[in-house]
Amino acid sequence: MNALNKDPLVIFTPSGKRGHFPVGTPVLTAARQLGVDLDSVCGGRGICSKCQVTPGYGEFAKHGVTVEADALSGWNSVEERYKSKRGMIDGRRLGCQATIQSDVVIDVPPESQVHKQVVRKAATARDIIMDPATRLYYVEVAEPDMHEPSGDLERLGKALKEQWDIKEVYADLDVLRKLQPTLRKGEWKVTVALHRGNRDARTRVLDIWPGFYDEGIYGLAIDLGSTTIAAHLCDLRDGRVLASSGVMNPQIRFGEDLMSRVSYAMMNPGGDREMTAAVRTALNGLAQTISTEADIDPTRIMEAVFVCNPVMHHLLLGIDPVELGQAPFALATSDAMSLDAAELELKTLNANARVYILPLIAGHVGADCAAVALSEEPNKSDDMVLIVDVGTNAELLLGDKHKVLACSSPTGPAFEGAQISSGQRAAPGAIERVEIDAVTKEPRFKVIGCDLWSTDPGFDAATASTGITGICGSGIIEAVAEMRMAGLVDASGLVASAEQAGTPRMIAEGRTNSYLMHDASASGGPRIMVTQGDIRAIQLAKSALYAGARLLMDELNIDTVDRVVLAGAFGAHISTKHAMVLGMIPDAPLAKVSSAGNAAGTGARIALCSNAARTEIERVVREIHKVETAIEPRFQEHFVAANAIPHATAPFPELATIVTLPDVSFNAAGAVGADGRRRRR
Ligand code: FES
Repeated sequence: MNALNKDPLVIFTPSGKRGHFPVGTPVLTAARQLGVDLDSVCGGRGICSKCQVTPGYGEFAKHGVTVEADALSGWNSVEERYKSKRGMIDGRRLGCQATIQSDVVIDVPPESQVHKQVVRKAATARDIIMDPATRLYYVEVAEPDMHEPSGDLERLGKALKEQWDIKEVYADLDVLRKLQPTLRKGEWKVTVALHRGNRDARTRVLDIWPGFYDEGIYGLAIDLGSTTIAAHLCDLRDGRVLASSGVMNPQIRFGEDLMSRVSYAMMNPGGDREMTAAVRTALNGLAQTISTEADIDPTRIMEAVFVCNPVMHHLLLGIDPVELGQAPFALATSDAMSLDAAELELKTLNANARVYILPLIAGHVGADCAAVALSEEPNKSDDMVLIVDVGTNAELLLGDKHKVLACSSPTGPAFEGAQISSGQRAAPGAIERVEIDAVTKEPRFKVIGCDLWSTDPGFDAATASTGITGICGSGIIEAVAEMRMAGLVDASGLVASAEQAGTPRMIAEGRTNSYLMHDASASGGPRIMVTQGDIRAIQLAKSALYAGARLLMDELNIDTVDRVVLAGAFGAHISTKHAMVLGMIPDAPLAKVSSAGNAAGTGARIALCSNAARTEIERVVREIHKVETAIEPRFQEHFVAANAIPHATAPFPELATIVTLPDVSFNAAGAVGADGRRRRR
């Protein structure tokens, strides 16, 4: 015991917070007074078991204390009842039951921390610190008294203030209707789900249950893309992902890419409302599917966080996106938004569920890009990082801890397998990996759903059920890059003839040539080719991507970047080497080109689990410098120079250390000219 203070010393680990407390103080009380992160839903009534701690006994030289066996009060009946019914690890105590008797060192295990860390899958990424906007609180409410009349809601508010120090609580009509029967059923003991987002001035009661309720409250982190809608269902108590699911965005029927959807809204009165209704229906369906998958009641979903590009954002909100189709690309609002799920007709969720939408960066750079910034944190990077979110519209971030720039680039849907002759979306049966032998010019490939190469024994049997149906986005990138490496395509993108390449796999088609990757026509299957048109479509897409990156580099006056991160679900599947051969991204050491997976989805998850992260990304977005590609004349120059494979003028020295691209040209003797005739030198 400390010589100056007669009260026992309590030291909490891992925080290291310490203080003196009178004998008999509950551990939970000491923790609260010191600001130690120790959870509690029941407010110390021995019901929730969230407050579990592990006292340490013996010599603690580091802290200068010796902890006696009786440093805490004895094991009590509440703990015994809990342990026998629900189980508890040996050595653990309930922080609200155990009281301090003498000096003690108390460890708070990770699962008992309110702001627990949720370990993310990507090893390089930071963890999520739990700080959700919606939490459960157990509370005991005073019974009504005829002599001191007051409403049930007012008495609930008073109890929350006294027991949890939560002020200014309000409830909407839906909760008010449930309030009276629930209070009486629970005999004046209830659990409430309280929500207070980072932008809210007051705390709102979202739902109420009789007695102690801890069956779970959930949230959806939704990446609303133009092609697909992907969602993670997370437990708001600990951030665990219970299920992940996705559906196609039904707006595709109104137009493949964003601009065609904006045009649809422009050309068809009420077209925007049709698209809004379509996406909301899909979202309700997705919420139902993902809940079924996780075996939870969707009305327990209390929150949804959205990240999306500006057009999707406006259509989700029911705002006509017409202004986004023309300069100066004015957004209705770029600010983050906090609103009721009911306003977006998300009827599958809890009737009072809340929605948070991340801020948009600019007219073409959306909340999805903000979510990537939240997940990848370029604003904290020591080295210069280029982050590319590859999708129908690529969004790019370039910068370091001093400055971050953002732009978008109209790559079109070619990288997703659209506008490609044998293109298809990534699904079982789609070719996703390609290798072409530089000598024989023979291909081998892998399809989604099978680990074998097409030349491996057993491949035919393994793919019998799916068939080989087409080429997906990552497959076409590899195919074009491999054709360039094998000398079947020259730097300008021209495809060799059979004669030039020396292989019958080159098929003349009209005035151009194609490469036959797979022929199942004998058995009624498809002939999967890479055509000259496919190469051109990929060239356009990759030039747009590169030009966007180059424009940002100009803005920072740099010629190289230290690292490249490919984000987006598609980015996760791109071979970085092949992306470099194509010149999709600026030259960089291959070891410094990485994939961040669905970083936008991860950013949505972080925002779902953390109010602090919401505040942080709102600040970061305000500081990101936006570069508009559409009105920048240098974009066109960069675009033209980037049309060559890998590039007309940029040297790509890092790429040269790993591959030597054949010096071939098919626009000379023997080439098939634009007039369809063979040319002589
Ligand atoms: Fe709930 Fe201790 S605080 S059991």
